[in-house]
Amino acid sequence: MAQTITLLQPDDWHIHLRDGAALATTVAHAAQSFNRVMCMPNLVPPVKTASDAIAYRERIMAALQASDLPQARKEAFDPRMTLYLTDHTTADDIAAAARSGLVQAVKLYPAGATTNSADGVTDINQCVDIFEALEKYNLPLLIHGEVTASHVDIFDREKRFLEEVLSQIIAKFPELKIVVEHITTSDAADFVLEQSNRVAATITPQHLLYNRNHLLVGGIKPHFYCLPILKREQHQKVLLDVATSGNPKFFLGTDSAPHATHAKENACGCAGCYSSSIALPLYATAFDSVGKIDKLEGFTSRFGAQFYGLPVNESTITLVKQPLLVPSHYSYLAGTAEQTTVTPLAAGETLPWSFA
Ligand code: NCD
Ligand code: ZN
Repeated sequence: MAQTITLLQPDDWHIHLRDGAALATTVAHAAQSFNRVMCMPNLVPPVKTASDAIAYRERIMAALQASDLPQARKEAFDPRMTLYLTDHTTADDIAAAARSGLVQAVKLYPAGATTNSADGVTDINQCVDIFEALEKYNLPLLIHGEVTASHVDIFDREKRFLEEVLSQIIAKFPELKIVVEHITTSDAADFVLEQSNRVAATITPQHLLYNRNHLLVGGIKPHFYCLPILKREQHQKVLLDVATSGNPKFFLGTDSAPHATHAKENACGCAGCYSSSIALPLYATAFDSVGKIDKLEGFTSRFGAQFYGLPVNESTITLVKQPLLVPSHYSYLAGTAEQTTVTPLAAGETLPWSFA
């Protein structure tokens, strides 16, 4: 009999569902595995106000209803909304977001750090009112933690952000709840471990399973390109250590970020790995690789809910140690003039873990 593991239904605390016709693909994939998903606001234009967030959630729910998912999955899926901080966000915007009851967190992208971040914050020192309002309403701040100065090496951008920016934010706003999103270095793991329990981190499947050799040795592999970029193997090992340690500061956030296949296989390829459909087999593979499959449920299904002060889900999902051939692509933007494909992480590879 193949080994199985039954998990409380997981949540994805960092996902890019995109908008419009993309939702037919992304929402169906996310809702197969996850109940609550924290929807990133980097649309074009971004989700900047509570009313933008409410309208975006309605579009997501319409795509959910139009999907072929079983009724039980449709009922369980619960997108949680975030606002995108800009130089023009006001404390009143934060108050309105808190009052809406639908906005669960606020996302900080340093301007220019990643995909669709041109409207992000240019000077974090100007955000004092915002951080005070977040503290007051107990709304978590989700951070893309990289400095953006052109002279800073891309492999050092996360570490420099922690040292130069985040440590100061935490010193000035000790009550602020913060998630350092998609951590990629041992420096970030150590940093989060040293902070109070108001500071946590998400970890993606690609940063647990791969390192920069996968991206760069034997040819450039654009489907492994995301931001923050994959680092050295020693960092991958530390991320695996902390993710599988049972420490509730570290929990699941896929950062699943679809781009059309042609936009990644390009002379100027986009940053982002699409993993939503196979995220649970990927995480199971990572945890099993270090003999820690017993620690998977805390990471996938308990610690994120605990951080956000929410109950754990009641339904379950079962994974089985049987080979899963990851599809080469999925249809994307179907029914539009841009109809194309999206290539998942690990496309064409066989994973040892599958859905039961
Ligand atoms: C994300 C995207 O494509 O929206 N890309 C990525 O490489 N992770 C943006 C982000 O989370 O940085
Ligand atoms: Zn992201």
